[in-house]
Amino acid sequence: MLPQPKLDILFPKHVYRIEDLFLDQLADFETTCRDIITTSGTIREGEWQVETTNQKNNQVLNDPRLVNLRSTILEYARKFMREMQYDEEYIVNADFVDSFTNLSFKGDHLYPHTHGLCLVAGVFYIKAPKGAEVWFYDDIPKIERNYKSACPSTSHEGKAYECVPGTLLLFKSDLTHGNKSQPEGDKIVISFKIM
Ligand SMILES: [Fe+2]
Repeated sequence: MLPQPKLDILFPKHVYRIEDLFLDQLADFETTCRDIITTSGTIREGEWQVETTNQKNNQVLNDPRLVNLRSTILEYARKFMREMQYDEEYIVNADFVDSFTNLSFKGDHLYPHTHGLCLVAGVFYIKAPKGAEVWFYDDIPKIERNYKSACPSTSHEGKAYECVPGTLLLFKSDLTHGNKSQPEGDKIVISFKIM
C-alpha cells in the first residue's frame, strides 16, 4: 500500500472580523470624523483616490471622543495577535502607530496596497453605502495596474467583503487590499496600524 499524502498549508492569510460594534454610536463617530476632516484637512493623490487625513492627521484615535473605540480596537487586536500566536511581549506592548480617517464618494477607489511595517493593520466602518466593498488579494503582482478595472469580480485571486457600518476588520500588514470604484453615497472609515 502506498503511503498517505499529507497536505501542508503554508502561510495562509487571515482576516479577523468583528461585526455590530458601537452601532448606537456610529452617528456620533461620523460627526467626530467630519469635524476632524474639517479641522485637519485631507489629501487625495495618486493611488489614494479618497479624501484622507493620512498625511494631515494620523492620530485621529487620540481624539477624546473616540477613546472607547480606540481601546476596543486595541483589545480585539490583542485577541487577534494571541490567535496568531504572536509573542506575548509584542501583544502586551502593542499600540497604535497611526490612525486616520477617510471620506470617499461615488467613483472613489483605493488601489490595492499593503501597510508596511506593523503587526496588525485594520479598518473600522462608520458609514458606507450598500454595495461598497473592500477586496483582499492573494498576490499583488497578479493584479493589473489599472485602478478601476483591477480586481474583476470573477477573480479567484481575491475575496470581497461588504463594508458594513459597525464592522472592524483586522489583518496582517502585508495582506494586500483595496477598494474598487465606490457605487454611490458617502463612506467614512477609520484606518490604523498597530505595532
Ligand atoms: Fe489599507
